[in-house]
Amino acid sequence: MSESRAPRILVLNGPNLNLLGTREPDIYGHETLSDVQELCARTAAAAGYETEFLQSNHEGVLIDAIHAARGNVAGIVFNPGAFTHTSVALADAIAGVELPVVEVHISNVHKREAFRHHSYISPVAAAIIVGAGVNGYALGVQQLIQLDTRG
Ligand code: DQA
Repeated sequence: MSESRAPRILVLNGPNLNLLGTREPDIYGHETLSDVQELCARTAAAAGYETEFLQSNHEGVLIDAIHAARGNVAGIVFNPGAFTHTSVALADAIAGVELPVVEVHISNVHKREAFRHHSYISPVAAAIIVGAGVNGYALGVQQLIQLDTRG
């Protein structure tokens, strides 16, 4: 008998987000990346979805994860960290796999330094959530589920 797998969402985090909870808590808050993982899993489960979770400090690992997601997940919630502002390669990877990507930033990058105002990811993102704290990840999961289920 074939087992049907729950639809999946990839939650991807870029550089320095492993330090969440202790890194500049005045900007990023006190919740850790495992709190974020739990929040995403809970939000997805409420709609019958599962999450895969990956954090890497390495651009190539993130690119490989985006490539591997093709055909395997309904979409990607992606906080690219500082690569947001530098990486043409990540933008090309997203454009290449044709999966919906919700770009998430915990902080309101537009209130911060000018170099954080430009994103290479935004032009290839299905939606952008900025400044909602870690709840932005849950909003991202919900948005991808809505995109997936409305067909
Ligand atoms: C961030 C904002 C980026 O500018 C920064 O480099 C990060 C985190 C955010 O979640 O607010 O690492 O993506």
